[in-house]
Amino acid sequence: MTAKEIRKSFLEFFKNKEHEFIASSSMVVKDDPTLMFINAGMNQFKDMFLGNVEVKHSRVCNSQKCLRVSGKHNDLEEVGVDTYHHTMFEMLGNWSFGDYFKKEAISWAWEFLTEVCKVEKDWLYVTVFEGADDDGLKLDEEAFDFWKEIVSEDRILMGNKKDNFWEMGASGPCGPCSEIHIDIRSAEEKAKVPGANLVNMDHPQVIEVWNLVFMEFNRLASGELEKLPAQHVDTGMGFERLAMVLQGVQSNYDSDVFTPLIDKVVELSGFKYTSQEKSETDIAIRVVSDHVRAVAFAIADGQMPSNTGAGYVIRRILRRAVRYGYSKLNISEPFIYKLVDVLGEQMGEFFPELSKQQELAKKVIKEEEQNFLRTLEKGIDKFNNYSKTVTETIDGKFAFELLDTFGFPIDLTE
Ligand code: ALA
Repeated sequence: MTAKEIRKSFLEFFKNKEHEFIASSSMVVKDDPTLMFINAGMNQFKDMFLGNVEVKHSRVCNSQKCLRVSGKHNDLEEVGVDTYHHTMFEMLGNWSFGDYFKKEAISWAWEFLTEVCKVEKDWLYVTVFEGADDDGLKLDEEAFDFWKEIVSEDRILMGNKKDNFWEMGASGPCGPCSEIHIDIRSAEEKAKVPGANLVNMDHPQVIEVWNLVFMEFNRLASGELEKLPAQHVDTGMGFERLAMVLQGVQSNYDSDVFTPLIDKVVELSGFKYTSQEKSETDIAIRVVSDHVRAVAFAIADGQMPSNTGAGYVIRRILRRAVRYGYSKLNISEPFIYKLVDVLGEQMGEFFPELSKQQELAKKVIKEEEQNFLRTLEKGIDKFNNYSKTVTETIDGKFAFELLDTFGFPIDLTE
C-alpha cells in the first residue's frame, strides 16, 4: 500500500465501525497555555475527556498533524540521527468518548493490523501498565486479560509509568496505556535475540507503532490524579512507522512518505542517499527532509518563524536544517524552500491548508534561509579566525559574542 492508501484504509476501517471522521486540527495551539504545539491526536478532544463540553460524536477517527519539539514530548535531538523519530508526524487515531473501552480498542487495533494490514502476528508484542505505587495505581489486569484472549502470554510485557501511563503534559487527561510494538528485524537477527528483549530499548527495528490509552484520570496541577466523569479511549498510531512496516523497508525515510523529499534533496545537493544510519550526509538529508515538513505545515497553520515562543521553535527547526545543509551537504544557497512543492504534491490533497499556503511557505522559508546563511557565514568566519589562536577552550566573552551573532547556542563541531 502507498502511504495515501494506508491512511485511507485506517480511516475506512474505523468509519465502518461507526466512527465519525474529524479533520486534523491546526498544529499550532492558541488556546491552551499548557501546550505550544499539538503533540497528540487527542489534544483537540481534551475538553471532551474532561467532561467540559457536550459530546457530539461518541466515536471519532482522524489523522492528526503533530509536532513533538518542545515540552513533555520532545524528540528533536533524535530526528535525522535515527530513522524513526520526526519533528512533524501524522498520528492516526480512534477515540471513544464514554462509549467503548478497553476490549474494543484492543481487539480492533489487532484486527486492523493483522487482518487489514496483514502484519505477521509473530512480529507483534504488546505492553500493559504494571501499576505505580506513587499514584496508587494497580496493574492493568483488565487489559492484560483482553490481550490474553488474543496473543500468547510471552508476547505481553509489563511496562512502567514512563512507557505505559500516558499523559498529555504536566497536567490534563491521562491514563494507563497498552502499546503495540513491531519487530521488523530479519529472521536471522530474531533467532539471535528475542524481540521481547528489545521492546522499549531504542532499537530502530523493534518499535512502538500504536498506543492505546484508556483515559480515566485528570492530572491536576498539584500532581494528584482525579477520576474523570467517564471512561474514554484515545489511540495514536505512527503513520510514518506503519508505512515503513507495510512497505517492507527498514527506515521511515525509505517509505514513500519521505522518498520524494529525499530524492529532491539528492537532486539539489548532488549527494547520494544510501540509507545508512550513521552516515553524516544521510543524517543531513534526513534532517532536511524531516524539518521542511514541520516548518511548511507550521507556516500553513499560521505560525511564522520569529524570535519568541512558538515562532522561535519553528525558526530553530529551520535553522537546524540550514546548518546541516550548509555543513554536511555543502549548500550555501537557499534550497529548502524548493522542497515545499514536492510536499504540496504529496500531502496537499489530504491537508488542503498546505496547498492554500504553499506559495507563502516557500517565500517565508526562502527569506529565513537567506538571512540565516548570512549569519552562519559571519559566525563561522569569526570562530575560525578566533580558533587560529586557541586550541581547546574559548573564553566566555567570545562565546557570548558568538551567541549574539547566531541568536542561540550552536554546536559548530556537529
Ligand atoms: N495520546 C496517545 C499518544 O500520543 C495515544 O501516544
